[in-house]
Amino acid sequence: MKKKIAEIVKNGKAGEELLVTGWLRTRRDTGSFSFLEINDGSSLVNLQVIAEDSLANYHDEIKKLGAGCALSISGVLQESPAKGQRVELVSSEVEVIGWADPDEYPLQKKRHSFEFLREISHLRPRTNALGCVTRVRSRLAYAVHTFFQERGFFQVHTPVITTSDCEGAGEMFSVSAEKRRTAGGDFFGKPAGLTVSGQLQAEVYAQAMGDVYTFGPTFRAENSHTSRHLAEFWMIEPELAFCDLAGNMKIAEEILKYLLADVLEHCQEDMDLFDKFIEKGLKKKLISVIENDFAHLTYTDAVEMLVQAKKKFEYPVKWGVDLQAEHERYLTEEVYGKPLIVTDYPLRIKPFYMRVNDDRKTVAAMDVLVPGIGEIIGGSQREERYDVLLERMQATGIDPEEYGWYLDLRKFGTVPHAGFGLGFERLVQYVTGMANIREVIPFPRTPGFAPC
Ligand code: 4AD
Ligand code: MG
Repeated sequence: MKKKIAEIVKNGKAGEELLVTGWLRTRRDTGSFSFLEINDGSSLVNLQVIAEDSLANYHDEIKKLGAGCALSISGVLQESPAKGQRVELVSSEVEVIGWADPDEYPLQKKRHSFEFLREISHLRPRTNALGCVTRVRSRLAYAVHTFFQERGFFQVHTPVITTSDCEGAGEMFSVSAEKRRTAGGDFFGKPAGLTVSGQLQAEVYAQAMGDVYTFGPTFRAENSHTSRHLAEFWMIEPELAFCDLAGNMKIAEEILKYLLADVLEHCQEDMDLFDKFIEKGLKKKLISVIENDFAHLTYTDAVEMLVQAKKKFEYPVKWGVDLQAEHERYLTEEVYGKPLIVTDYPLRIKPFYMRVNDDRKTVAAMDVLVPGIGEIIGGSQREERYDVLLERMQATGIDPEEYGWYLDLRKFGTVPHAGFGLGFERLVQYVTGMANIREVIPFPRTPGFAPC
């Protein structure tokens, strides 16, 4: 019977007849047989296969196998006499499905740098670390859906192509149809671009369905070369009707804790690798995040703290300026040493849709900051009052005519509502301890970089 290696190494019983397919990691020859280490992607752990010299193709093929060759192996499982694995497969047939020339195959047994691996993004998932990231990322995506579905949220597929710039930051990639453009017209009758956030459309559905979320690709044409920015990333955006900022913060804390607990339970081997080789103490740190309350701080108090700080910052702080990554990290890493939610930012530095506070100077915004990353979540309560929203649009140069549909929601059964965006790659970074965001998405896109 064909089985995945993850299943075999966990539950396989001596005497089982099995078929296994995968790629060779290493071959080691001893007197009358060879050890073949096979990986099929299902697990960090390889399956050890014994290929004896009595096999018909032993001398012609098996002894020429190198890393990267694709194999199909039949055999019987036995308890392994040696340390290092519980079971091993004694092969009765080793079929070579695809050869890999050892002179050309770039993945050697030694550890490669992540920078080097980025240049071969078509082969890097075959390495231990990138395989672990892939499994953890997939599990996290699954857990995101489980979290919301179990709580009665509906997933809404918000559009990838849109004519509204949610964040109003002018960071949209434009979309046009070559034929129409050369004929002097826009395909959609007006300029369109790739979404920078599904929030505005999610708000539409929250105000019909109650609680919704969107989880999709998001695009930003910002010229950032940091280890935290991508031009294409994935964002998880819940939107809750009849909800204020306090309710929003509660869900943000709950989902982060839920996701951390889920991967620690379901991706143990992968998490052990990150804990051992990528960020020492990672698992302990994540457990402590799950067990403790997040800290809370208003922007005004944060600025006060930064002004008082003994530390010298590259960007000086005063009330009214946006917090830079260095400030965010100082607060969450050095002052609190745990996740921190900063709220009530100045109205002038935040987008038009955030709800204006009674002081008329700040908005009901929240950023969740975590050690090592900085901002992982950005969100707010939304402005549900027609007149205030209209005023904010005018003040920020957003054409109310273009956003008539968004204003309509404030005319017809408007309710307090709130939501946030959790950057999926920043989450994967946080969970795995990977230093650079380019390692946690299969095919990173950054300025000047989109090889395949
Ligand atoms: O803070 P942002 O810009 O918030 C929004 O877009 C809101 N409309 C979300 C909402 O309220 N529904 O982005 C949200 C999160 C950030 O905290 C960060 O984790 C991630 O998205 N993010 C990026 N991740 C990778 N690369 C980039 N260039 C990112 N920009 C934002
Ligand atoms: Mg933000």
